[in-house]
Amino acid sequence: MSQVALPLICALDLTDSDHAVTLANQLSGSVGAVKLGHEFFTNNGPDGVRAVAAVVPIFLDLKFHDIPNTVAAAVRAVVPLRPVMLTVHACGGLKMMQAACAAADQAASALDIQPPLILAVTVLTSLSVADLGRLGIGKEPIDWAVGLADVARQAGCDGVVCSPHEVARLRQVCGDDFTLVTPGIRPVGGDDDDQKRTATPRQAISAGADYIVVGRPITQAADPVAVAAGIAAELSAHPVL
Ligand code: C5P
Repeated sequence: MSQVALPLICALDLTDSDHAVTLANQLSGSVGAVKLGHEFFTNNGPDGVRAVAAVVPIFLDLKFHDIPNTVAAAVRAVVPLRPVMLTVHACGGLKMMQAACAAADQAASALDIQPPLILAVTVLTSLSVADLGRLGIGKEPIDWAVGLADVARQAGCDGVVCSPHEVARLRQVCGDDFTLVTPGIRPVGGDDDDQKRTATPRQAISAGADYIVVGRPITQAADPVAVAAGIAAELSAHPVL
């Protein structure tokens, strides 16, 4: 059973851990988890994660990408922080993802806790087709994402992070028992910031996402609690059957 009860996850891309704890408290009724990533972790370290984890479940988005041995060691180091989800880059390959999954299971069983969901990041939602071309990837994002998700599944990952534009196809290809998490979410009329392949919360969930990640539209709003509550209400008013 999932440790994350609500579909909305707020990305707290903040430098200040007190601010993050305050927001986590205020948003706790609307979100299933909050996502802490590089900006938060490099400023506040494990203590900052523990402070927020005392308030709401944590999605630790450190997107590990290195040789299998190094990624396994990093996963072992973060499991005691009790994240409910954590990320690795699918581009790290089959063996790296297998090592991450095995390390999470071992570390969690040593602590007698449920292991975090291991999610593989497919194609960053900030990358356009032109950006991929510049990197030498002559594929549409959807085709690249499907290939990466397939390797992630073979490696034993619990799911992937993908663009809302790819989620319907990935749901079809990967089946129902695979967690799909989509950032790149913008409420109707919202600013896209640096995101390229966006959708509204409702569109993403209707297309098959289990969880949506929303950052700046909530954290930079004049009233973050009202924006989060509005998104949560929109999603619960029209549940996906
Ligand atoms: O502020 P915004 O809603 O754009 O935040 C999106 C969050 O999701 C950021 O924390 C970003 O690091 C993360 N993310 C993403 N695209 C991915 C994976 C993660 O935007 N493919």
